[in-house]
Amino acid sequence: TMGNTNPVGAGRVDATKVRTEGDFANPRVEQVGNEYVAYVQAFSFGYLPMEMKFKAGQKVTFYLTSPDVQHGFHVERTNINVQVIPGEIAKVSYTFTAPGEYRIICNEYCGIGHANMLSKIIVEP
Ligand code: CUA
Repeated sequence: TMGNTNPVGAGRVDATKVRTEGDFANPRVEQVGNEYVAYVQAFSFGYLPMEMKFKAGQKVTFYLTSPDVQHGFHVERTNINVQVIPGEIAKVSYTFTAPGEYRIICNEYCGIGHANMLSKIIVEP
């Protein structure tokens, strides 16, 4: 593993408008040169995009926020572990070196659907 995985604050956002305005209203992965930028919503109870694909060896910068309550964004088998707080944008970068599937799990208790709050990253060779 490599890359800076200490999440940093990357600004604020109006949580009531996350679903309707700005980058997070269009959750997506963008390829920018040899890197990726991902805009991710963590919501009750899931993540958008529902699935993300990256090529191994290319840096990914995730921007994360929540439109409702606090969630987690933990990518298994990595040290990506972010608290996603409504009204705040968290930023974390990571370079996946090993191809495979990586589950995303929520590790902040967020309500009745918490245990089913899952998503997936696919890293291609
Ligand atoms: Cu979202 Cu627990």
